[in-house]
Amino acid sequence: MGFASAQDAALGEAVFAKCKACHAVGPDATNKVGPHLNGVVGRPAGSAEGYKYSTAMATKGAEGLVWDEATLAPYLANPKGIVKGTKMAFAGLKKPDEVSNLIAYLATFAQDGGKTSADAGAAAPAEQKAEAPPQAPADGQTPIQPAPAAARGDGLKLGLGRLATEDEISAWDIDVRPDGKGLPVGRGTVATGMGIYDENCASCHGDFGEAVDRWPVLAGGQGTLQADRPQKTIGSFWPYLSTVYDYVRRAMPFGNARSLSNDDIYALTAYILYLNDVVDDEEFELSNENLATIRLPNEANFIEDDRASEPHNKPGVEPCMKDCRPGKAEITMHAAVLDVTPENSENDDAPAAGIE
Ligand code: HEC
Ligand code: HEC
Repeated sequence: MGFASAQDAALGEAVFAKCKACHAVGPDATNKVGPHLNGVVGRPAGSAEGYKYSTAMATKGAEGLVWDEATLAPYLANPKGIVKGTKMAFAGLKKPDEVSNLIAYLATFAQDGGKTSADAGAAAPAEQKAEAPPQAPADGQTPIQPAPAAARGDGLKLGLGRLATEDEISAWDIDVRPDGKGLPVGRGTVATGMGIYDENCASCHGDFGEAVDRWPVLAGGQGTLQADRPQKTIGSFWPYLSTVYDYVRRAMPFGNARSLSNDDIYALTAYILYLNDVVDDEEFELSNENLATIRLPNEANFIEDDRASEPHNKPGVEPCMKDCRPGKAEITMHAAVLDVTPENSENDDAPAAGIE
């Protein structure tokens, strides 16, 4: 491992992309799936304030493990091998260069998220940052190391990549179907949801789902689907409640996705039903048991995709690929998309899109 330089740190920043789903650094860093990593180089394991560690990690900290270059390198190469039972669902970084650059990058963040002296000279010119160290091969040419993978065999044909771990699969596999398949166990009431919503959602979506400025509207709009400017909300348009649960769990609050618990998401989904008058009791409790039984008002207007039964899709019919329309091709219409950036537009009340 060479001496850390600003250039290493710059390369390490790119490696950190692999950590970002779970960890944050910088002045605004908070604990996400994993603890924030400000000041982690020099920090005792299991010590980020307010983060709930696995027993395994907490024990390591209590035993005196401190994160520094020497302890981080093996941990990042093989988290579960070094801390047996850690809940960090990450297989490990295989390239020693990536590990050392990443540690150099992490070392630039002080406890408070500001920059440390390790970052001195970080203002390296951009061209230099982009350059790989002269003796290292460019990334695309890094020789594959076929021997161990091929020797292990087991379903590996090309010697590329590896099988996803159980933990990785369960972290990715969070989709929920309309019939309730995929819902995690949990529950939450309208009243609980109201509090969570006011704190995490109302700043963009409005106190009653009516939306602030141009953020998306979540409630209302019933009966507008055939108007010039239909207002498509969960109550007026969405077919299935499972999508609300899935979407909010996956993507909201915007900018801080995956920060809420499964129960929080049930409560929020219940509250969104309440805002859309689908339920009217503040004590109504939504759970994995009753979610699939709730029907949204517009469900019936969605139909199964029947394109496969159209004549040109009949078995044995060759699709037309050339000169399908007889005669000369002519422009008959121009699409003018109006009003997509309405800030200074005078057409604010005009239809959202027009065809001339
Ligand atoms: C899928 C989520 C996930 C990814 C990706 C991930 N981590 Fe973690 N990480 C965690 C979790 C969860 C913990 C807490 C482990 C525990 O308590 O057992 C953790 C713990 C850690 C710790 C110990 C921190 C402490 O205060 O004790 C370090 C260091 C760390 N991760 C670094 C990284 C780095 C660097 C990367 C990118 C190469 C990374 N992690 C990728 C989830 C993740
Ligand atoms: C910082 C602003 C912001 C906050 C806070 C926020 N959202 Fe959103 N929300 C958005 C944006 C932007 C979109 C549209 C994203 C897109 O289309 O990619 C969106 C979309 C949605 C949608 C889909 C709406 C539709 O009809 O397409 C739902 C449901 C939703 N948010 C729920 C929530 C909930 C629940 C919370 C609180 C936990 C929340 N949002 C917090 C900005 C926000």
